[in-house]
Amino acid sequence: MPNFFAVCAPGLEPFTTRELKDLGLQVASSTSSHDSLKGQGDVEEIGGVAFRGSLTDLYRANLHLRTASRVLLHLGSFFADTFSDLKRRAKRLGWESYLNPESPVALRVTCHKSRLFHSAAVTERVMESIGSRLGQVPPPKKFDGEEEGNPPQLIFVRLVENRCTLSLDSSGALLSRRGYRLATTKAPLRETLAAGILMASGWDLKSPLVDPFCGAGTIPIEAAMMARKMPPGLHRHFAFMDWPDFRPKEWESLKAQAQKGQGGSGPGPLIMGSDRDAGAILAARSNAERAGVAESIEFSCLPVSAIEPPAGPGWVVTNPPYGVRLKSSRDLYNLYSRFGEVLRAECSGWHVAFLYNRVELLQATGLQVEKEIPLRNGGIRVKLARGKIPQDPEK
Ligand SMILES: C[S@@+](CC[C@H](N)C(=O)[O-])C[C@H]1O[C@@H](n2cnc3c(N)ncnc32)[C@H](O)[C@@H]1O
Repeated sequence: MPNFFAVCAPGLEPFTTRELKDLGLQVASSTSSHDSLKGQGDVEEIGGVAFRGSLTDLYRANLHLRTASRVLLHLGSFFADTFSDLKRRAKRLGWESYLNPESPVALRVTCHKSRLFHSAAVTERVMESIGSRLGQVPPPKKFDGEEEGNPPQLIFVRLVENRCTLSLDSSGALLSRRGYRLATTKAPLRETLAAGILMASGWDLKSPLVDPFCGAGTIPIEAAMMARKMPPGLHRHFAFMDWPDFRPKEWESLKAQAQKGQGGSGPGPLIMGSDRDAGAILAARSNAERAGVAESIEFSCLPVSAIEPPAGPGWVVTNPPYGVRLKSSRDLYNLYSRFGEVLRAECSGWHVAFLYNRVELLQATGLQVEKEIPLRNGGIRVKLARGKIPQDPEK
């Protein structure tokens, strides 16, 4: 049974693990580092969870995982302290099941404490092994991880203490690229992080959910997709679809099955997104439209001080501005303090989960925190604060 690795941002491993288990997949271990991904445009993407399953399970993981950014297929592992060992052993692997001789490939090589430490020379030998297996060397392509469109087939080569591990990316474009977020604002959250925050918030998928700093709408849109059981990968292309071994019938039947499970009965939870910036609300509405969840979300252009949450209790899950985006830290401090006041006045008895990056901002809210989860957002170390707003006896 092949081994796989679901790559996710550090801090999201428990949620990726839970998602894999919910899919009935066999989780092997989680790790906080996958070195061959470092410094290659996926700077944040260095956590992950190993799991086992069939190729169909690999398709399912790509179709359903909300918090992972890629799924890798472990092709093989062997000892190699000379280039001839590397070439000979890499040639034994079944590359022809996954690569087309004409399709471009990009290798990401990392070497640690190994006699083979020159990554360009390692790349050259692995490419020769692939070439001798396929009858020709596939065209090499540079890839920085952030380009639009379909990337080349990524191959990860990791040499640690002379042990070489070769993996193939099965996802293609990052899984965060669901395809709906074409309209954007300043500093949007990655869709995978937004999904992780929602899971970490403990939202029950039924109660009202409010995001008063919604920007391009990522949190409300991911929430609506989760509540409606919409698989995030339903309408996109994956790298595995270009593999010679791809089984289109199985893929189509997985999608059909997933589509049948969507929706559910009743109108679904009330999800509200607001932002004081009219441009952000326009972007959020058009993104929600593209995601197919526009009718599940009420967007309004409002400052946080004017929000009117529905009858609760529910959840406030949000990503307020932090860092350099407001003119001075006094403004930011005041904003967080106002946010805390509004929640105490309007959301008594509600749950709250919000991102922050400085303890003074958390303190400014005056909210009691039950749990803090360290995460990374756009390379910045942040924390998700989770707590409950005290019940006002008069409400
Ligand atoms: C970090 S961004 C949120 C990004 C969002 N999660 C996304 O994925 O696009 C913070 C948002 O807070 C909004 N904002 C700043 N001050 C505000 C206020 N006083 N009331 C409401 N929204 C505010 C900004 O316009 C910005 O869109």
